[in-house]
Amino acid sequence: MAENPNTFLGGIVVKRDGGELAEDFYKHFMPSIASGEIPDYQVSAWLMAIFLKGMSSGETGAMTQAIARSGKIISFPHIKQATVDKHSTGGVGDKITFLVAPLVSACGVMAPLTAGRGLGHTGGTIDKLESIPGVRTQFTAEEMEGLLERVGWLICAQSKDIAPADGVLYRLRNATGTVSSLPLVVSSIMGKKLAVENDGLVLDVKFGSGAFFPEVEKARELSRTMVEIGKSAGRTCRAVLTNMEQPLGRAVGNSLELTEAIELLKGTRKDCPDVVEVTLALGAQMLIVAGLVNDEKEGRDKLLQAWGRGEGYDRLVAMVSAQGGDVSYLHQPQKFPQAKNVAEFKAPASGFITAIDARRIGELARRMGAGREYAEQEIDRSVGIVFRARVGEEVRAGEVLAVIYFNGVQKSEYVAELSGSITIGEQPPDQQPLILEVVS
Ligand code: URA
Repeated sequence: MAENPNTFLGGIVVKRDGGELAEDFYKHFMPSIASGEIPDYQVSAWLMAIFLKGMSSGETGAMTQAIARSGKIISFPHIKQATVDKHSTGGVGDKITFLVAPLVSACGVMAPLTAGRGLGHTGGTIDKLESIPGVRTQFTAEEMEGLLERVGWLICAQSKDIAPADGVLYRLRNATGTVSSLPLVVSSIMGKKLAVENDGLVLDVKFGSGAFFPEVEKARELSRTMVEIGKSAGRTCRAVLTNMEQPLGRAVGNSLELTEAIELLKGTRKDCPDVVEVTLALGAQMLIVAGLVNDEKEGRDKLLQAWGRGEGYDRLVAMVSAQGGDVSYLHQPQKFPQAKNVAEFKAPASGFITAIDARRIGELARRMGAGREYAEQEIDRSVGIVFRARVGEEVRAGEVLAVIYFNGVQKSEYVAELSGSITIGEQPPDQQPLILEVVS
């Protein structure tokens, strides 16, 4: 006997067999997923069926709307300026939010950001931010508006009010190998974005080994799908395609990345030109979308001036303080708990670094405890990897290429994994573009 298509089990069977579910299915069942009424094993089976068989564009749109409506639709009736959000499709060493959001805020953009936790091999803004003791990331609509009025920007997590269905789906995708599915990524990101009524959105869509979709064509498809959904919901929406072939910046791991972002924002270090470039590219688009500048050059100049005056750092301090965090950790990042063990990875040969496989590095950081392999896992915010050398640099045999910060005893496994992730060749590699294009 065929399964009843009006039950969740029926929906699993339809997706298993490659069929299409009606809009009503998504409308009806997303609140039940959000409330926990549908057991995790059934939701996981459904996610795997979607991962394997895909979704029509109509279903992706219906799922996005249903995720957005699984909680409240948040708006900011008292904020008169344009509000703009930013979201990354997920990367390794991606700490851009901690730079770009305070900088655009210093330039006059109202920025209520909804961010995620670590997913698959990628790190999450919320996990990194929560390295700071006391910081809150869940707010009511009124609290969000209050933060915008007082500070001009905020970072909040998906919550029981904001796209709660995404909370369940995100947790289960992370633990069931169902992250890299285009409709699931689109509906997860855009479901959260449509739950908060901002005027604009800038998406950082990654391509390269550390991205969920390494191929440029797939990243373009992801960009176009999300921009279309954003526009049909009345948002000014742009996507910037950025390279995630090697980790972004030098640090990978929660508090290590936050420390790097803090120091770059303060201006006490200058050794991450890629982080600076991606920050300026995305920030300029946020200023354009907010209507504050006419073109990218004007946006970049404005951001650099604010950065030079230390206003980005001041805005970061203001946000952390307003969200209840202990700002002494920003002033003295050495206060973050340190991993017990440190190991150096040295170049096995002289030559040029031709590749640092971002995907493998992200998986390594996750295995070291920086991310979750099962839903309830506590993460270790102290562990990670800091690179001393980057792709294209010439190195000598025996030179330290990376430092591993870890707890536990698996040093030889971590060193072996690094050795397999870093390639040294005789010739310098071809230069790859860091920013490929803007989809608008
Ligand atoms: N960020 C999200 O919020 N969801 C995804 O699926 C990927 C990145």
